[in-house]
Amino acid sequence: MLDVHLDDQDIARHLRADVATGLTAPAKWLPPKWFYDARGSELFEEITRLPEYYPTRTERAILAGRAADVAALTDAKTLVELGSGSSEKTRLLLDALLRHGTLGAFAPLDVSEAALREAVAGLTADYPDLDVRGVVGDMTRHLQHIPDGDNRVVAFLGGTIGNLVPAERATFLRDLRAVLGEGEWLLLGTDLVKDPAIVVPAYDDAAGVTADFNRNVLRVINSRLGADFDVDAYDHVALWDARNEWIEMRLRARTAQRVTIPELGLTVDYAEGEEMRTEISAKFRRDGLAAELAAAGFALREWWTDPQGWFAVSLAQAVTAG
Ligand code: SAH
Ligand code: TRP
Repeated sequence: MLDVHLDDQDIARHLRADVATGLTAPAKWLPPKWFYDARGSELFEEITRLPEYYPTRTERAILAGRAADVAALTDAKTLVELGSGSSEKTRLLLDALLRHGTLGAFAPLDVSEAALREAVAGLTADYPDLDVRGVVGDMTRHLQHIPDGDNRVVAFLGGTIGNLVPAERATFLRDLRAVLGEGEWLLLGTDLVKDPAIVVPAYDDAAGVTADFNRNVLRVINSRLGADFDVDAYDHVALWDARNEWIEMRLRARTAQRVTIPELGLTVDYAEGEEMRTEISAKFRRDGLAAELAAAGFALREWWTDPQGWFAVSLAQAVTAG
């Protein structure tokens, strides 16, 4: 079953607003949720299989070791997943929660309808006794549409929380806390601060898949808003920002570019070498994350990492804010 809160019109309206804001700013930028059309979701799945991209396999190993603990600690009846994509790693949680005997429903939420449809079809076939209800929506706008229930666990994996800038992150965590009851849970996957020599290649792989993924946002603007970006005229850039402890992804115009976006009546000029930010991927430390969670009304209960300390899965519980 699929519950759709984002249709083409709604997407186009929000994309128009974001593009109008981002591409007329003195330092151009675009928000990362627009990477993920059907092709973008496929490219992301390809990224997760790259040798350089350690987060997926590291998080999967942590989940494999801790899924039974999650089940025992939470007694979850409903599992919600935000930015669920393929929900591939999430099967480890579903298996453990079903074995534990408490789970009745799974609600994955994603902006990418194509990815979610495929995931829901696979899950429905493989978990016939589970009530699987996909929610096509934007987690920054549609949290009120996650199913009711008591004893919900909200999983937010893949380090995707790091794709929100700090102010967005604070708002998102507060909004999430507001739709949960006291005692409900957040299972959060975060990539950790480490040697940039390990982090940077994960966002700049030798095969160029990440570069293609990054440029996909231009294809999305071309197809949804009728723009004429020459997609291959932009180079992929991934930089480690040591002060903010995040990876910053940019697209750099190789030569001067003029782009017209008829649906916005907008002409955008890029100078040769001009860079535009398309995404950040923040890396976390335990203390900082615990403080951000506490500020939003979540108490950190468990902190699980891999032996190298590259990635963390944490379990936090909704408590009274303040
Ligand atoms: N959870 C998966 C996928 C991570 S990639 C994993 O760990 O491998 C990030 C996912 O978040 C994509 O599937 C993308 O479509 C989704 N996403 C990005 N921004 C979103 C938003 N604002 N609301 C809902 N989903 C979003
Ligand atoms: N959530 C993923 C991450 O931050 C998203 C991602 C991986 C990504 N590689 C990317 C986004 C490259 C843009 C470009 O790790």
